[in-house]
Amino acid sequence: MSSQADSLQLAHLHRLEQDYAALLGRHGFDGVLLFSGRPARHHGDDQFASFAAFGHFVHWTGQAQLAHSWLLIRPGEAPTLFLHSPDDFWHLPARLPDEPWVARFRLEPRATEAPPALPPGRYAVVGDVTAAEAEALGAEANPPALLAGLDELRVRKSDYEVACLREANRRAMAGHLAAREAFLGGGAELDIQLAYLGAARQRESQLPYANIVGLNAHGGVLHYQHYDLAPPGRARSLLLDGGCRHRGYCADITRTWPGSDALPEFAPLIQGVTTLQQRLIDRLAPGVSYVALHERMHEELATLLVAHGLVDASPEAVLASGLTRAFCPHGLGHLLGVQVHDVAGRVASDGSPLPHPSDHPALRLTRTLEAGMVVTMEPGLYVIPMLLAPHRHRHEVNWALVERLADHGGIRIEDNVLVTGEGPVNLTPREP
Ligand code: GLY
Ligand code: MN
Ligand code: MN
Repeated sequence: MSSQADSLQLAHLHRLEQDYAALLGRHGFDGVLLFSGRPARHHGDDQFASFAAFGHFVHWTGQAQLAHSWLLIRPGEAPTLFLHSPDDFWHLPARLPDEPWVARFRLEPRATEAPPALPPGRYAVVGDVTAAEAEALGAEANPPALLAGLDELRVRKSDYEVACLREANRRAMAGHLAAREAFLGGGAELDIQLAYLGAARQRESQLPYANIVGLNAHGGVLHYQHYDLAPPGRARSLLLDGGCRHRGYCADITRTWPGSDALPEFAPLIQGVTTLQQRLIDRLAPGVSYVALHERMHEELATLLVAHGLVDASPEAVLASGLTRAFCPHGLGHLLGVQVHDVAGRVASDGSPLPHPSDHPALRLTRTLEAGMVVTMEPGLYVIPMLLAPHRHRHEVNWALVERLADHGGIRIEDNVLVTGEGPVNLTPREP
């Protein structure tokens, strides 16, 4: 990004400093120590799992890969980053980016992984720490009320965060376009994933989540996790749910493409889900209940199933039968930020729980929308045999068509959208 991003970052930090000072004051703390975290080591091995730093640490630094480091926030002082950088001829020492926060913070490079000693006062330590570790520092580990307040500070994005999310989206879309080319060129799932990574310029371990690259029936496995090495005999479909991180912030985009061997019914269904998604995006505004939008998605899916000949009944009857939940068992979307499923989606702004509706356990966002929230909008329509099996007795379903579509897997269209009082701002670029 640019000098404009730098000035936005300074404003973001200024807002964080003020918000933390107010929150810490309210809870009676002199400061908080944020732990970036430690990667997990494989049992009996000297290798480590891929790592993502604790979200509240990333909120200040954008450093999603920086392990064993600690950030001390004391109102009225520059934040102090205790940067883990041991003398180590096996690895390069930690490299910090050329960004304004680095000059604004106090840096204390250290060889040890242990937490730093704290100045006199009352402190909280938050992150992956035990009560015993915090007690040894004379601090409190993850006090729930404070943690809820910190989570809440991540819900409404600053202009800087929106700029980062937009850039993550730009890079992810470059990946999606290259992946589509690889698919249309006859590539296997692994080829598609490699094309994506090359165009997004990101290694797998830095992605916000493992890309879902599903050819044909694999598109109907919601979090399909493999990358087949050989292309299937027939090219029915590609469902690609792929992300990217920029300065810690995540994109989470899904596209579905028909292959050269797709049934003629499939492309119009993709178009139907896309149109439905755009209509739902148009409704995003402060004061709107996300649960109501999710319910609206089901009403629209019922209409779509009827319009495309998958069910012969009234949309009201389709909705009442539960069929739309069998065709789409996940939620409409979630909050997005330094985590792909960002925090505080199921609590009110005062931290009190907002449980999911009983029929919609997978819904990750149950709040009323506010300006500054960034949400995903990801309606889907899948053929998932285990979910459709309990409905086999329903004669109104066109089972012959459902079965012919089964090896197309499913459809999901997912964009990342900023809620504003002047209308929704879609951060996901339109593909050409
Ligand atoms: N990529 C995971 C999700 O869409 O929520
Ligand atoms: Mn996704
Ligand atoms: Mn998502």
